[in-house]
Amino acid sequence: MRLMLAPMEGVIDHTMRELLTSLGGVDRCVTEFVRVSGQLLPARVFKRYCPELQRGGTTLGGVPVYLQLLGGEPTVMADNAARAAELGAPGIDINFGCPAKTVNRSDGGAVILREPERVYAIAAAVRAAVPATTPVTVKTRLGYEDQQRFLDIARAVEAAGASELTIHARTKRHGYRPPAYWEEIARAREVVALPLIANGEIWNPQDALRCLQVTGCRDLMLGRGVLCRPDLPRLVKASLAGAQPAPLSWAGLLPLVLRFYELNLDRYEARYAPNPLKQWLVYLRGYYLDAAPLFERVKRLRDPEQVLQVLRETCAAGAAARSLPMTA
Ligand SMILES: Cc1cc2nc3c(=O)[nH]c(=O)nc-3n(C[C@H](O)[C@H](O)[C@H](O)COP(=O)(O)O)c2cc1C
Repeated sequence: MRLMLAPMEGVIDHTMRELLTSLGGVDRCVTEFVRVSGQLLPARVFKRYCPELQRGGTTLGGVPVYLQLLGGEPTVMADNAARAAELGAPGIDINFGCPAKTVNRSDGGAVILREPERVYAIAAAVRAAVPATTPVTVKTRLGYEDQQRFLDIARAVEAAGASELTIHARTKRHGYRPPAYWEEIARAREVVALPLIANGEIWNPQDALRCLQVTGCRDLMLGRGVLCRPDLPRLVKASLAGAQPAPLSWAGLLPLVLRFYELNLDRYEARYAPNPLKQWLVYLRGYYLDAAPLFERVKRLRDPEQVLQVLRETCAAGAAARSLPMTA
């Protein structure tokens, strides 16, 4: 089975991809969506979203990063897909899942799901525009207001020649509210032969196993679950193989959190570096109780150096705790 790291706009950028894939278990990443509206974007835009293009489109550890496009105009989507492929993107993913009002109002994301014919037209145009060796994948929800046309959407994606379809098992109306309707993915498997990747509400290895059983899929995409538990992909694969490795402890994770912050300090203007860290700590609080006090300590800090100081102290305390001899 393969595990894909979900695209998450404003959260999973190349720094986060680098960190999360370094823990193993991820077979593919997808960039945040690149908004395509009316024109051919310059190469620098693709490189900004996907700095991995400078390395053949893979992370440092060699995991391919597909470039995600979002837009409603087949010709313009096709032109931009061709440019991304020329720049070395190992695959193109089309976003038909974004629920954001601003995006949907300007004819992009989940709103296209109202018309499976347009799903077909966009995916077919993109497929025709890139070399046959470049996979074109599609990411959808079950529908916009409801899932009445879900099976038509799946058929349209297959007919357009896409190689895989990732299904976030909720409609746009469901937003991100649990549950995810995995059983709908099983229905799609009955009408299309293209590989389906199941996505939504997988927070631990047990969820992953249940999702595989319910959907009958071989592959999964994991999003927020990996931000809460960065070793989730490795744990899922281990569970499937019948092993039960020790989960990553908070003390074990801290050096990675520090590294993430240092990379952000290097790559972005220093005053912006605390924001992605704070955002990640909010996710980490969902699994690691110790992330909450750390978040409380940094949440009001603006000075990047002060944040660094707190992180270093926390990391050193974590390392000291790990090296304490076991007492009887
Ligand atoms: C903050 C945020 C940003 C997201 N950005 C994208 C995106 O750029 N492209 C996309 O296809 N999906 C995006 N998604 C949806 C996720 O890829 C995924 O489908 C969704 O979170 C459900 O999976 P999960 O329950 O494993 O998180 C985003 C979700 C969140 C919460």
